[in-house]
Amino acid sequence: MRALWVSSLLISVAAGLPRVQVLPTVERPFVFMHLAKAGGQSLRKYVREGARRIGIPADQMYIPCSTGLDCWTFHINRTAGNFSVIAGHFGVTELEEAGITEYDCLFNIRDPVDRAMSCLSFFYNELFQDAGRWSEDTFRRKATEEGVGTAVCHNDAARMLVSGMDDSVFMKASESHEVSKVLVTKALASLKRCVVVDLFDGPAHGEEWHSKAHTVIKAYFPWLDNGQIIPRENISNATLQGRPQKPQRLPHRLMKELEKLNRVDRVIYSHAQRLMEQQHPALTK
Ligand SMILES: *[C@@H]1O[C@H](CO)[C@@H](O)[C@H](O)[C@H]1NC(C)=O
Ligand SMILES: *[C@@H]1O[C@H](CO)[C@@H](O)[C@H](O)[C@H]1NC(C)=O
Ligand SMILES: *[C@@H]1O[C@H](CO)[C@@H](O)[C@H](O)[C@H]1NC(C)=O
Ligand SMILES: *[C@@H]1O[C@H](CO)[C@@H](O)[C@H](O)[C@H]1NC(C)=O
Repeated sequence: MRALWVSSLLISVAAGLPRVQVLPTVERPFVFMHLAKAGGQSLRKYVREGARRIGIPADQMYIPCSTGLDCWTFHINRTAGNFSVIAGHFGVTELEEAGITEYDCLFNIRDPVDRAMSCLSFFYNELFQDAGRWSEDTFRRKATEEGVGTAVCHNDAARMLVSGMDDSVFMKASESHEVSKVLVTKALASLKRCVVVDLFDGPAHGEEWHSKAHTVIKAYFPWLDNGQIIPRENISNATLQGRPQKPQRLPHRLMKELEKLNRVDRVIYSHAQRLMEQQHPALTK
């Protein structure tokens, strides 16, 4: 087993890939940067179970939703402890603020428009009931107004991967066809540090995508491997967990608005897809 880890470690380092994390430590914690509405909830639980199994003490885990903290916790509270396993809606800004610079990370990405649909229907059911009658402008206003969780719904991958992002950057991108190269470069640098999986990749969320993400997670984080399959029911049904059960389809013209609103994440997602191709085969052949 050990020999396998060491050889995977060498392979990954040589290829400029994220390194294999044999064990999470306080000095170099495991961080699951959980992009919301992208199928990560059962993965969080799986991480907590994995950490327990290898004897990580409860006070070294920072896993909102699973360890008594509110699910929508957006800050890592270092006053509460020094952590070796962190899993939640935390990006580079939150890690910086917590003074955590050395870490091994896992990032779950998803097609940005699918994610926005799932997110908006979760926070704002009415959007999909009434939207058919709305003009593009009305839709845009509703889909971005305060109180519908829009900070999480649009371009959240960019927000998590680049520190100091504010909405004007996204609005600017949605009006033009340009996405700042500096921004994309920064996002990609953060992404490259992490093992990236798309839990929705593949035909109809079938076996193929699942076993791919599964194999990759276990290859880079062998301490998580309990010899069993990562629970999949809630991952594959993740889109159904929002309200309503299935987001109604939006008219094409409004889908185009949603695409524009998420232009930054669209660019990041296309880079992420290439990155996943590089990260995955090296360790999974
Ligand atoms: C899946 O969802 C059900 C119902 O919400 C819950 O009881 C169960 O613990 C979840 N399983 C996992 C692996 O998250
Ligand atoms: C951070 O943790 C400390 C120690 O557990 C606690 O007293 C404090 O209320 C927490 N702060 C926040 C903002 O949750
Ligand atoms: C975290 O670790 C540092 C260095 O070992 C220690 O001084 C500090 O008290 C620890 N913080 C907590 C909240 O346990
Ligand atoms: C989740 O999806 C599977 C397969 O598509 C289905 O059999 C199962 O009933 C679903 N579970 C829930 C809670 O919707």
